[in-house]
Amino acid sequence: MTHVGDVVFRHVCAHKAHTRAPRLRASAQGGDGGVVGVDMPPKLVPQGNRFFAVDSRGTVRRTICIGPWALKVARNATGRRCNRFEADLWVRTTAARRNMLCPVLARLPFGLAVIMQRARPLSEDEAERLRNTRGFPDWDYVPPDDECPFEFKASDWGRLPDGRLVALDYSMPALD
Ligand SMILES: Nc1ncnc2c1ncn2[C@@H]1O[C@H](COP(=O)(O)OP(=O)(O)OP(=O)(O)O)[C@@H](O)[C@H]1O
Ligand SMILES: [Mg+2]
Repeated sequence: MTHVGDVVFRHVCAHKAHTRAPRLRASAQGGDGGVVGVDMPPKLVPQGNRFFAVDSRGTVRRTICIGPWALKVARNATGRRCNRFEADLWVRTTAARRNMLCPVLARLPFGLAVIMQRARPLSEDEAERLRNTRGFPDWDYVPPDDECPFEFKASDWGRLPDGRLVALDYSMPALD
């Protein structure tokens, strides 16, 4: 838990937290990113409805959520490549495919960061249910971009305020 002025910011990590019992604090985890002060049940994490939240679960990007926006800041060169890939794909792809992607609202040069619409990430339970019922959207394997750009893990998907299910991380082809 990090104190900044009067505000308490909690970094959370649902998928790691729920595989570890009991819940751990950052000081117990060590390293960069991961769980910081998870003291809510996994279903309420990762972000709840806080105006400000930092999601450090990503290996190549850290996400700073402020109100309706999510700023995805690259941690390294791969993160910059992923940011560029998502921003480019968002612009060039078809309307049908864009419908399953979290909108990119703005981008910084060199892939330093992208700003997306903020979504509420899925719980592990919901992701499992969607996997079992084939409820995730289908990326049609037709050229161009015939490589599926996302995985079906909970942290990579979310719901927009209107309830639409969208991929939050769609940069798989840009990974090393
Ligand atoms: N638009 C968004 N709204 C809310 N949270 C988001 C958004 N985009 C990403 N996140 C959260 O930020 C975290 C990191 O994002 P993302 O998965 O894109 O980063 P990454 O470093 O590429 O991840 P990975 O380690 O899976 O490759 C994820 O846990 C995700 O739930
Ligand atoms: Mg991810």
